[in-house]
Amino acid sequence: MLLVIGATGNVGRPTAETLLRRGATVRVTARDPARLASMAREGAQVMRLDLGDPTTFAPALEGVTGLLLVRPPELSKVEEGMFPLIDAAVEAGVEHVALLSVPAAERHDFLPHARLEAKLRAGPLSRTFLRAGFFSQNLLGLYRPGLDAGALTAPTGDGKVAWVDTRDLGEAAAAALMSPPQGEQVWTLTGPEALSFAEVAARLSGVLGRKIRHTPQSLPRWITTLRGQGMPWDQVAVTTALQLVIRFGGEAVVDPTLGQVLGRPARRIEAIADELRA
Ligand SMILES: NC(=O)c1ccc[n+]([C@@H]2O[C@H](COP(=O)([O-])OP(=O)(O)OC[C@H]3O[C@@H](n4cnc5c(N)ncnc54)[C@H](OP(=O)(O)O)[C@@H]3O)[C@@H](O)[C@H]2O)c1
Repeated sequence: MLLVIGATGNVGRPTAETLLRRGATVRVTARDPARLASMAREGAQVMRLDLGDPTTFAPALEGVTGLLLVRPPELSKVEEGMFPLIDAAVEAGVEHVALLSVPAAERHDFLPHARLEAKLRAGPLSRTFLRAGFFSQNLLGLYRPGLDAGALTAPTGDGKVAWVDTRDLGEAAAAALMSPPQGEQVWTLTGPEALSFAEVAARLSGVLGRKIRHTPQSLPRWITTLRGQGMPWDQVAVTTALQLVIRFGGEAVVDPTLGQVLGRPARRIEAIADELRA
């Protein structure tokens, strides 16, 4: 049995869908299982798991051999919010965890992913660190309000990003879960080319057939905007730190691993266009 938590999310959903397509026995969880009704129809077992409610852990982990662990973006204190689930997974006899992490996590110890990797490394489970680059799907979330108004607005300067599509990440996560390693496996998973926000604006203008301007933004303005959208301070801090990582070139490296795992080229940024039109 393979368990996908965060199965309603950007990466959890395509992971679970890929596992189901490939015939794996899959359990998916959410805080509100009704949100996973379509996966139940595809044959997944659907259960409730809330990281804030440890009584939901043991039932969800029963019989599980492999687990996709996704840190909800709003959860920064992983020691309180996620370590108990990892301990429960060890207790329940889980063998392998695939953790959605970030490139060079060990060099960014201000990020919660570094602490999650360290926790897993110190324990008995075999593990795959899916060190995912910056998602193309961020254009559908964080940057969407601006894009709908014709502007790609960010404090990332000329920093380039090796944009990666979460549908590809889901396929890679499924591959790791279905063929778990002995010990530790670290995959840095990026898209096939590094593009600045200005270059993305130009590409999207081309495929969408409408002008998207790149609008640089100051950090104070960025933070004020996120706070104005109601984002909690913890999440603002992590999100802003990632913008700075981009600005200083930390998301620019293209890694060939994703294409090798998928056995085909990873999706380009243009693949997001249909979802942006929706
Ligand atoms: N955005 C990027 O560019 C990027 C790049 C690399 C890594 N990452 C990392 O990827 C992770 C986010 O992945 P994602 O974008 O796939 O997530 P997402 O789309 O934001 O979804 C978050 C998932 O977490 C679940 N969740 C939230 N609170 C929960 C709780 N208390 N208990 C159980 N589940 C809960 C949600 O499920 P329900 O609400 O349905 O329960 C949802 O499925 C973060 O750690 C982020 O740092 C992001």
